[in-house]
Amino acid sequence: MIRVLFVCLGNICRSPMAEGVFRKMAADEQLADQIEVDSAGTSDWHVGKPPHQGTLSKLTEYKVSSEGMAGRQLTKEDAEGFDYIIGMDAENIANIRERFEDADHQRIIRFLDLTSHQKDLPDPYFTGDFQETYDLVLEGCQSLLELIKKEEFAK
Ligand code: 4NP
Repeated sequence: MIRVLFVCLGNICRSPMAEGVFRKMAADEQLADQIEVDSAGTSDWHVGKPPHQGTLSKLTEYKVSSEGMAGRQLTKEDAEGFDYIIGMDAENIANIRERFEDADHQRIIRFLDLTSHQKDLPDPYFTGDFQETYDLVLEGCQSLLELIKKEEFAK
């Protein structure tokens, strides 16, 4: 089983969006029983809360399930629990490394570094543009799936 964790600040906008999109993408390629997907926030501000209405609207529009999603905070134990830890921006990456207390994790990746964009994923909590973020999430998820297929399933 390959375990993927998406991490953002609040765990209500960007990371649940990526979680839903990536789970669907894996399922569409018959990899649902081989790839486990979760998301978490570096803050504890929205623990137990459902995703932001803007994220829920996009997921519904694109027929992506948001079933069971509830905010949770990143823990130190997530370093051992997941193979790929995907942070949405540079601040998330710094906070993940801090939370893991220098755990020797091989796969902590800024999401859009997997694409040609090489930048932070815009946070729609502040930009208000959930479509822009959704389009980039789609690109990032496609690149991540290619990477995982190459690294884990091409043997
Ligand atoms: P997210 O966006 O990190 O993509 O979930 C945010 C959600 C909430 C807040 C900031 C960013 N907030 O300040 O509460």
